[in-house]
Parts: sequence; C-alpha cells; structure tokens
Amino acid sequence: MSRNLPGESRYGVHSIDHFALEVPALATAEAFFSLFGLDVSQEADRLALRTVGDRRPWSYIHTGPAKRLAYLSFNCFAGEYEGLVAQIQAAQGVTPAAHTAYVSPEGFWFHDPDGNLMQLRVGPKRTLSAPQPLATPEHRPGERGAVPRSQARKVHPTRLSHVLLFTPDVQRAVTFCHDALGLRLSDRSGDLVAFNHARHGSDHHLVAYAKSSARGWHHSSWDVPAINDVGQGAEQMRQGGHHAGWGTARHVLGSNYFHYVRDPWGSFAEYSADIDFVPAGSTWPAGDFPPEDSLHAWGPDVPEDFIRNSEA
Ligand SMILES: [Fe+2]
Repeated sequence: MSRNLPGESRYGVHSIDHFALEVPALATAEAFFSLFGLDVSQEADRLALRTVGDRRPWSYIHTGPAKRLAYLSFNCFAGEYEGLVAQIQAAQGVTPAAHTAYVSPEGFWFHDPDGNLMQLRVGPKRTLSAPQPLATPEHRPGERGAVPRSQARKVHPTRLSHVLLFTPDVQRAVTFCHDALGLRLSDRSGDLVAFNHARHGSDHHLVAYAKSSARGWHHSSWDVPAINDVGQGAEQMRQGGHHAGWGTARHVLGSNYFHYVRDPWGSFAEYSADIDFVPAGSTWPAGDFPPEDSLHAWGPDVPEDFIRNSEA
C-alpha cells in the first residue's frame, strides 16, 4: 500500500476494470472497434471489446437510444475495498445506486456528482506498475525501415490507458476523484480540463474531465507500442472511411503521441504511445497550464468539433 500525501483520502482505486457504453446499433460499434484493432465479440445482448490476447474485456457496448456512458467500473485491492466504500459514501454529491440498469450484486455501485453510474470492485491491477519503454524502430543500417503499404501489419492496441468525460463542473469532478476514488491530480488547465492518476502506479491520467454544459463521453485511449503504430493506426482507420479526428500529434500534458479517430457517434477513440508514467510512491508535480501552452506540443491545430459534447 502506498503512503498517503498530506490531506488526501486514505484509500485509492488502482485501475479502470472496464467501461460500458450505450450506442444505437451494435453492428456499427462492432465494425468501428474491429477496424480500430480490438478483438470484438458478441456476448448475449452486448459486445465485449478486448485487446488481442487478453481474456478480460476492457469495454462492453450495449444498445441504447443514443451514445452515452452506461457505467465505469474501477478495481481496487481487497484490503482497501471496505475503506473505499466508506470513503465513496462519505464524499460530497455521491449517491448509492440500486434498482438501476446494469447494477449487479458484485461490488459497490454509485452515481458520481454528475450522475454517472460507477462500480467499485476488488479486481486485478490493470494499470501498469512500471513504465513500458517505447518500442524502437526495428530496422538496422542497410535495411529499409518502411514496408510497402500493401504489407503494413494491422495495428492492435495493447491496453486501455484512460478515459475522458465531459462535466459541467471540472473542479467538482476533481474533488470527487480525490475524495471518493483517491485519485491524484496530475495536471490541469484551469477549469477547462483536468487529468487524474491512480496512486498505485498509473499513466499520467486514468480519468480526465473536460468542461461542457453537460456530462458526456469524450474518448477512450488505447496504448500502442510505438509512434509508428499511432500513425499507422490512423491510416488503418482512414482506409476504412474514418477520416475525421485529430492528430497525429504530441500532447504536452501526458506527453503522449496521439491520434484521435472520431467514432460514429461524435466521440473519439485515441491511439496513444509513450504517455507519462507516475510510479507508486512518487509524487507528480501537478501544474496548471494555459490551454494554448498545454494542449499539444506539435501537430495539426485542434479541430473545431474536438471538444463538442454530442450529448449536450
Ligand atoms: Fe487521451
């Protein structure tokens, strides 16, 4: 168990186990996420999204009237479960969830101050415990580095890195993450966007929030091993007709190389490589950065529709 920082809540979740979305047509989601490089299977009345070779789903997709977050499920260590339930119950704006769709007997279900359904459960640590070095280019002197387009291998993300939600109140969301989930603020840009990491070893952000007039689902981010996979993944989606998005570029906050692909519902799926890592037991120097100095280090300008909440 990691040491507490002064003034922070005692316990903390360590991972996102999975997220669940509702969309109008599962077939559309199946086509999009399969092309994105995930292993998509129909299980009863929902889709399960896995990274290739991982038996545990990172996401479930259900049918609903419009795209929205169905729920977000967090994992914690067994020794912290009871303490975390009490911590969440005591946090401002949290309400227990019962007799609601998706609520199961497993774990503790609640609504965050924005009304998002969430689950806390004892489960495996799915965040990394040590940073994953960026894969270096494979070619040697005297060899060609790039392969012909026709021979490019399909990009398959290796894990979920983080999710970003819209919120009408970024500070309230940061306070909820801190007080209830025991997450730590990594960096922010005023009340426009805030990034939070888990204390037991985590990417620079596990859960992030961006300002909107309403709550909403903005993106899921999927780690790929190399910068080339970020660009190649974007190309793979373009070839399938998914031209819209943002990238390829590099973030300042989180430092990751990225390409966001706009999904069929106006939100995004992100290819990400080499995101900053916060080891357990270390303290991240959280900062507040002006947006023009923190969104991206290089790459195309942010498209006008990138921070549009299709659910507002
Ligand atoms: Fe992201």
